[in-house]
Amino acid sequence: MATDLRRDIFRGIYTNPIYRTPHPEKDTSHKPTPQSPPSTWLSCIRLPRRQVIIGFLNVLLFFIFLWHLPLLRNLPARSFLPSGGSGPYAYSFPHTAVQPDFLPSVISPSTKKSRRQLLSLAKELSKNPFPQKIWQTWKTINLPDDESFTRRQTWHALNPTHEYELLTDKSALEYVINNFNTTDPYIVYLYQHLPQRILAADLLRYLIAYKSGGLYSDIDTECKRPIDTWVCQALGNLPNINKADINIVVGMELDVMDKSKYSDKWVLEAGFSQRIQFLQWTIYSKPGHEILRRMITSVQEAIRADIQSLESKSIGDVKYNDTQVLDTTGPFRWTQTILEYVNDVVGRKVGHEEFAGIKEGKVFGDVLFLPVNRWSPGVGHSGAGDDETSFMVHHFKSTWRES
Ligand SMILES: *[C@@H]1O[C@H](CO)[C@@H](O)[C@H](O)[C@H]1NC(C)=O
Ligand SMILES: *[C@@H]1O[C@H](CO)[C@@H](O)[C@H](O)[C@H]1NC(C)=O
Repeated sequence: MATDLRRDIFRGIYTNPIYRTPHPEKDTSHKPTPQSPPSTWLSCIRLPRRQVIIGFLNVLLFFIFLWHLPLLRNLPARSFLPSGGSGPYAYSFPHTAVQPDFLPSVISPSTKKSRRQLLSLAKELSKNPFPQKIWQTWKTINLPDDESFTRRQTWHALNPTHEYELLTDKSALEYVINNFNTTDPYIVYLYQHLPQRILAADLLRYLIAYKSGGLYSDIDTECKRPIDTWVCQALGNLPNINKADINIVVGMELDVMDKSKYSDKWVLEAGFSQRIQFLQWTIYSKPGHEILRRMITSVQEAIRADIQSLESKSIGDVKYNDTQVLDTTGPFRWTQTILEYVNDVVGRKVGHEEFAGIKEGKVFGDVLFLPVNRWSPGVGHSGAGDDETSFMVHHFKSTWRES
């Protein structure tokens, strides 16, 4: 009997007695009773029920595997460049694996991610706190004036546990090369060769925030309250929001949705492109945030397209006017990138009016938005108060227009 069974198994389970209906011979003696359609169908192809169940479970497991596939693509040294790009500098260098100081958990070359991917990336980032590091940049280690030196002391004094790093033109280039040349040589190329240095300076803050995280702030800012207290204070009494779930903090610098106070003419003459604007002279983020990845990709693609549209196709001939600078690497593109991310992560269109007139922090996805007075007090518009509730003050120097 045992050997019969074995043979039957090898021959095929359909002839194995244990899979047969109890009395198959008897069934032929009387007319087949009318059966429900599924069992007719099953008996027709003679699939035993157990096999159907096993098959179904296999298919189910396969789909569960597919569902988790994006999370498994946790590969080091992925590039920002969308696949299929064919820039002159994009793929001409050999891509070797490096050990950057931070490996973003999910970096995919595609620009758009599904909401599920964004949420799982945000969840991944929220496992770690904000790095305790302050970044500033200046041409050399000699700050422009005593005032800047005094302001810098406020960052040290109020944040004694934070590491501080001032990147000079020289060390910033090293930073960019060390962190990006292996994976994104085109970024390094842009950073090195853009003739208008404001573009490189803008790019640099996104690269720092993306790769290292922590706080980036322009050299003309002054700290008013310890950085570690910002998120809690801004969240205030917001219900159901966990401090750890915030992965990036974005400050508003323009909130002029109220047309009765701010006419279209006012907005136009003040040189803004929208009535809500997020500032990019300070960025507080955890490393690897999707907003920064998108921003860097988007800046890179825009400049690449502009170079291609030039007759000389030379980066040395790229010249932007003030509006174009704001649009290419500055707050216009930054604002647009953030708004798009918020729509994607929340899963609906979040209108400008939802940011209007906020007095406390507002959270969309893993982004904490600060009202104007927190980072940008005393600007004389947007309902910004003065210093009392502010976390920092920006002493606008606008040095960039001169360079
Ligand atoms: C970047 O890396 C490539 C080799 O991968 C090298 O040829 C090039 O000189 C590097 N660029 C800089 C600025 O170091
Ligand atoms: C900047 O250049 C763009 C495109 O050439 C042009 O439309 C715009 O009026 C210019 N803006 C200023 C402020 O010169």
